[in-house]
Amino acid sequence: MKAVVLEKTCKADELKVSEVPIPEIKPDWILVKVLGFGINRAEIVLRDYEADEDYINLPVIPGIECVGEVVDPSDAPFEKGDKVVALMGGMGRTFDGSYCEYALLPKKNVFKIKEDVFDSLSLEEIIAIPETYFTAYGSIEGLQLKKDDSILIRGATSATGITAMQLAKAIGATVIATSRDESRFEMLKDNGADEVLVDDGKLEEKIPDGVDKVLELIGPKTLEDSMKCLREFGICCNTGILGGMEYVPEFDPIKTIPNNRYLTSFFSNYPTQEIMDRLFQFVIDNDISPKIGKIFTDLDEISQAHKLMESNEAQGKIIFRLI
Ligand SMILES: NC(=O)c1ccc[n+]([C@@H]2O[C@H](COP(=O)([O-])OP(=O)(O)OC[C@H]3O[C@@H](n4cnc5c(N)ncnc54)[C@H](OP(=O)(O)O)[C@@H]3O)[C@@H](O)[C@H]2O)c1
Repeated sequence: MKAVVLEKTCKADELKVSEVPIPEIKPDWILVKVLGFGINRAEIVLRDYEADEDYINLPVIPGIECVGEVVDPSDAPFEKGDKVVALMGGMGRTFDGSYCEYALLPKKNVFKIKEDVFDSLSLEEIIAIPETYFTAYGSIEGLQLKKDDSILIRGATSATGITAMQLAKAIGATVIATSRDESRFEMLKDNGADEVLVDDGKLEEKIPDGVDKVLELIGPKTLEDSMKCLREFGICCNTGILGGMEYVPEFDPIKTIPNNRYLTSFFSNYPTQEIMDRLFQFVIDNDISPKIGKIFTDLDEISQAHKLMESNEAQGKIIFRLI
């Protein structure tokens, strides 16, 4: 089969497709034909520097998510031909991921897609959903977002940010969305933003009345400022690291978290069938259409896909549809 095999950290241009054997089935694992997969920042990080870490099992096929069709379920409760999503739990890091034609995946990370999902969403839309929607949905749940809440979404032009805006609007919240680039304001408004702001790292003064919730996708770089944007009893969820910082240096919780404000986070490593079902139902019930930035159809275009993500020009989810 065709697969992108990462042997060491490299530049986007150096990614290439190889011929490798189709993996052999084994107990507790499921062989899946990959119908498509989304591209994620995590895979840029893996290729750039994370591949040097001990826990990365090199050589590895990257790819932390996919939509597929079961070829051999082994001992798992699936039928041949079932359509499934798979994501995270070490996928594309400690075991081979989705940048390939057939993936062998642990059964705990594979979730059935109910047949009626295909009545409401196209295959491309379903491919755009697993990791990005799970992350945005999980963050919005963690924020306990309610109708009439105001929410500030930092890094809103990201695939995760656009998705979070769609979900927040479906709940009935008021959305303040940010970008570093004013030319993206129109796109943000078209996707649900009620108000738009340029993010220069200091939003506290631009939002004098504060907000009920903040979805922090820039991350530790702007977290302290985000905490200052919260009204009393407000919640900030740190989900992203777009600003390039993974940690808050010398984090002092007493000074960083103002009185009666709450800080939480979301990590997409623990999906379940129940949450995936709930998420697809929410998307369908609210007539949400995933915003796709670019569809590739040939694995050989993997370098272009990584370069597009690095350019920050995609304005939506970058996906590969392989059938
Ligand atoms: N916690 C989890 O489990 C989890 C799961 C999935 C994703 N994530 C994280 O969520 C974030 C979003 O991921 P994504 O795949 O949706 O991203 P994406 O679509 O690739 O994001 C692109 C956007 O990022 C913004 N951006 C890029 N570099 C930036 C910088 N230095 N400062 C501020 N903004 C910057 C740009 O916004 P402008 O140019 O418009 O400002 C650009 O439009 C990432 O940090 C990712 O690692 C976390």
